[in-house]
Amino acid sequence: MNLQTSPMPADSIGHQRLRDLMKRGCDFLGCEVAVMGGAMSWVSERNLVSAISNAGGFGVIACGAMTPELLDTEIAETRARTDRPFGVNLITMHPQLFDLINICAKHNVSHVVLAGGLPPGGAIERIKGHGAKLIAFAPALSLAKKLMRSGVDAIVIEGMEAGGHIGPVSTSVLAQEILPHICNDIPVFVAGGIGRGEAIAGYLEMGAAGVQLGTRFVCATECIAHPNFKRAFIRASARDAVPSVQIDPRLPVIPVRALKNKETERFAAKQREIAAQLDGKELEMAEAQLQIEHYWAGALRRAVIDGDVETGSVMAGQSVGMVTKEEPVVDILHTLMEEAASALEARA
Ligand SMILES: Cc1cc2nc3c(=O)[nH]c(=O)nc-3n(C[C@H](O)[C@H](O)[C@H](O)COP(=O)(O)O)c2cc1C
Repeated sequence: MNLQTSPMPADSIGHQRLRDLMKRGCDFLGCEVAVMGGAMSWVSERNLVSAISNAGGFGVIACGAMTPELLDTEIAETRARTDRPFGVNLITMHPQLFDLINICAKHNVSHVVLAGGLPPGGAIERIKGHGAKLIAFAPALSLAKKLMRSGVDAIVIEGMEAGGHIGPVSTSVLAQEILPHICNDIPVFVAGGIGRGEAIAGYLEMGAAGVQLGTRFVCATECIAHPNFKRAFIRASARDAVPSVQIDPRLPVIPVRALKNKETERFAAKQREIAAQLDGKELEMAEAQLQIEHYWAGALRRAVIDGDVETGSVMAGQSVGMVTKEEPVVDILHTLMEEAASALEARA
């Protein structure tokens, strides 16, 4: 990342402090700025991922519901576009998780991110056995410690301000509850609701090794999301990005944060349909939850790829209000780093 073009000298106290604070995260990821592009299903593919890595950040492919064959191609195509490190995000409940891990190993993927719940038995050993660094999400301090004991190399803490599937606790509270207790023992990346560099500076000062942003990268020029999807982001404000509602107490659904639209009603109908199948013993709970995930994958695809932002799911975090135009990834990262350096300069 070329900080030389900034109005503030690149050797300013703010930039030096920023480099110092990011060093651990950069060393861990093998990149120039400790900013991970959070994996976003359908969005984080070869183009956006390679653009983020080429610009000095750390791109992460979203495997989502891809088959091993599709992931194989996606990794190869990403590698053809960048010689810098990038990661692959795998969802723990994917029925072919171990085949996907083998595909990552085949390509010597340096970092695997496991999302969607605690890793099943053997997954951590298999990933680490192939020599990859393993990053996992920790929704609470106790789980972060458990993951550390299991051999995970870095932790992401993601607050409920984020886009996509969310937990119940805000980023600021998770950061206070978790960072002071583990940040000296393991690199921690903070995610959820980060739209400007001042917030990045704040979390780095609290002990984070780096940050992970999703929403802020959706309107990157290099991102293949449909123009309607990007326009919806540019128009929306924070309060438009709302969590989905659980209709039936018997069917626990992980809330998803997305822009308000007609899809909300469709999801309610889908939940009622699945709950009825559970009642009629036509479905087991695990299968019901998998159906919900397939529903989301389809609804997100309709919005991201087909541009149906009315009945598709426009997953977005609360930081969507800070997305105001389409611009290249390098400019997004540059702005974030300048804001962070200025904030640190002012506090020096
Ligand atoms: C459209 C969209 C799709 C997402 N898909 C995934 C996913 O497939 N796997 C995952 O671990 N996180 C997913 N996320 C979460 C991001 O990786 C990231 O952690 C999150 O966007 C960070 O919060 P922010 O949106 O406030 O920046 C998604 C987020 C968005 C906005």
